[in-house]
Amino acid sequence: MSTCTIGLFDSGIGGLSVARHVKRLLPTNPLIYLSDSQFAPYGDKMPMQVRRRCEAIVEYLLAQGANVIVVACNTATVHHIQALREKYQVPFVGVEPGIKPAVQSSRSKRIGVMVTRQTAKSPNLAAHIAQFSTQADIKVVACPGLAEAVERLDLSPGLLLRTFISELDGQGIDQLVLGCTHYHFLTESIRTLVGSQVNLVDTGEAVAKQVSRVLADLEPVAQVSNWQASDEGGEDRFVTTGDLARFNRQLTSLWPFGKVDGQQVAINPLKKIG
Ligand code: DGL
Repeated sequence: MSTCTIGLFDSGIGGLSVARHVKRLLPTNPLIYLSDSQFAPYGDKMPMQVRRRCEAIVEYLLAQGANVIVVACNTATVHHIQALREKYQVPFVGVEPGIKPAVQSSRSKRIGVMVTRQTAKSPNLAAHIAQFSTQADIKVVACPGLAEAVERLDLSPGLLLRTFISELDGQGIDQLVLGCTHYHFLTESIRTLVGSQVNLVDTGEAVAKQVSRVLADLEPVAQVSNWQASDEGGEDRFVTTGDLARFNRQLTSLWPFGKVDGQQVAINPLKKIG
């Protein structure tokens, strides 16, 4: 039986959309999910501030025995996963907007990408899009406020969604990339607005498969080093840096594998980067 602990984090509950796929694919691996809602949204913060949060969270997850860390946030991945990989020995799996699968599936070769403000500004995203610029027209739409609507469990924020999706009107897109893990929870509302002819591209399942591949490489070593941890039970844990009652309501709505109780933790970002 697998004993590796999978750590996941996001600015809030968006990463639960990834954690759900991970749980389905790897049901015996204990998860520890951290929602950094005290500091959400990452998409409106300066990247250096978010990097400090990411480092403090990674250190927390490592101290809790995580053997692999999923950066279940596009904003943190596009800006910081490289630095995290350089700084920490643990394997990281990131979440990036699914531009490649969208280009591959597109017939019209016109693609929309919904992201946070800071993901839209990321040089890594620009470089990624540039790789496909001869194959498709790719229009990026920054959607400030949308992740916060999901945090409030407002999964039908009609007016806000219409504002962003209207930027894609008349563009002839047939693929719409959900480039923020929170947006998965708006799938039905987005589909209602864009119609069934537009395919929504979500990378949660692909990320879970990547976690499974990473674990397959890791498993023999981690089984030995985690022997004690596995004796202690291996239950999934859900922690938040924000309000606990709110987090428990979010978990009740969005975690489909039975009732879970969250815990509150304090994260202290390091002052110095490096
Ligand atoms: N869920 C995050 C992402 O995938 C960030 C949302 C936010 O905090 O702005 O980008």
